[in-house]
Amino acid sequence: ELPCSMRDFCEATGVPVAQVLRFMMGMGVMANINATIDQQTAELIAADMDLTIDLKAHETLEDELITSLEEAEDEEADLVTRAPIVTFLGHVDHGKTSLLDALIGINVVKGEAGGITQHIRAYTVEKDGRAVTFVDTPGHEAFTEMRARGANVTDIAVLVVAADDGIMPQTEEAISHAKAAGVPIVVALNKSDLEGVDPMRAMTQMTEHQLTPSEWGGDTEVVRTSATTGMGLDELLETLLTVADLHEYRANPSRKALGVCLEAEQQGDRGVIAKLVVQNGTLRVGDILVCGSSHGRVRAMTDTLTNAPLQEAGPSTPVNLTGLDIPPGAGDRFHVLSDITQAREIAASREHGSRTESLSGVTTKVSFETFQEL
Ligand code: GTP
Ligand code: MG
Repeated sequence: ELPCSMRDFCEATGVPVAQVLRFMMGMGVMANINATIDQQTAELIAADMDLTIDLKAHETLEDELITSLEEAEDEEADLVTRAPIVTFLGHVDHGKTSLLDALIGINVVKGEAGGITQHIRAYTVEKDGRAVTFVDTPGHEAFTEMRARGANVTDIAVLVVAADDGIMPQTEEAISHAKAAGVPIVVALNKSDLEGVDPMRAMTQMTEHQLTPSEWGGDTEVVRTSATTGMGLDELLETLLTVADLHEYRANPSRKALGVCLEAEQQGDRGVIAKLVVQNGTLRVGDILVCGSSHGRVRAMTDTLTNAPLQEAGPSTPVNLTGLDIPPGAGDRFHVLSDITQAREIAASREHGSRTESLSGVTTKVSFETFQEL
């Protein structure tokens, strides 16, 4: 029967009085054992305590297992060359999607609502007999988080700067993302086909952002490109492959896969479709996966460009995948485990963790109001 006194509440639930008092003090409420507790507050307190206990039980399992998967050292003999992951970053409308379309011979830009990219896209293609993974990100200011995600999976950033527009706010933001990720930047000075553009202006602006063009003695490669005429595309590709050669990106295809979710959604009867990039190891149909607070067994994977079904996906490969129970968060890391129960438990403990976080937000608000009356 509620409302009731804290004494009655504690007797009924078996939660020690001291714990309830501490909980309330944590919210800045000095209560005593005779304080009245209403239904809503009682539920919040109960929920908070359960979940706190739950979380502790799972913390160790998750920490140990995931850390060991993340940090397992690869044997030198297992390492093979992997495709460089090349991400297009830059201000809205500077031509990221057009350049990528032109490079791989597709036309995505035509189908985009309002010509604005709102998704993060990733494809592996073969170029000059070598695999390269390209990631396209949106340039609109609303999509900071997506650019950050793109920068986080990348090996090389292509900073797309429209020659007629120069460095703009999201170009600057992209520069900081790439610098924070510690990856080399290649500049595509795009729309160089336009009449009367002055490349010197954009290059001077670049210098002000510590990106000195190599033709001016710096170490930033600047390629004049046009997605419209195809100018500079071969040179851009060559430059990217040269940077990749310098860095020798390698991975171990024989370990359990791990990587990151770029985006995910619930698609009617098809279930959850998640776009993942494998960063190390090989992901296979049937593998047990935990990704953020989702888990499942890989039911099917398809190539992100051709939609061809894939039985396995090695390092640097982006895939569209089904089999997860709920859509993971964009940016969540994924790991392959050997035990579905473990995967479920880790996913559940993370789900509880995020519920506790959001609940405690609610708790503070509700309870302050509730207890003002005491
Ligand atoms: P967001 O994804 O929305 O940030 O834009 P984006 O950087 O992907 O630009 P997008 O490829 O959509 O191109 C924007 C506009 O610029 C389109 O109308 C393209 O046709 C045009 N455009 C892109 N590249 C070039 C180029 O090299 N020359 C000229 N003249 N126009 C270009
Ligand atoms: Mg675009």
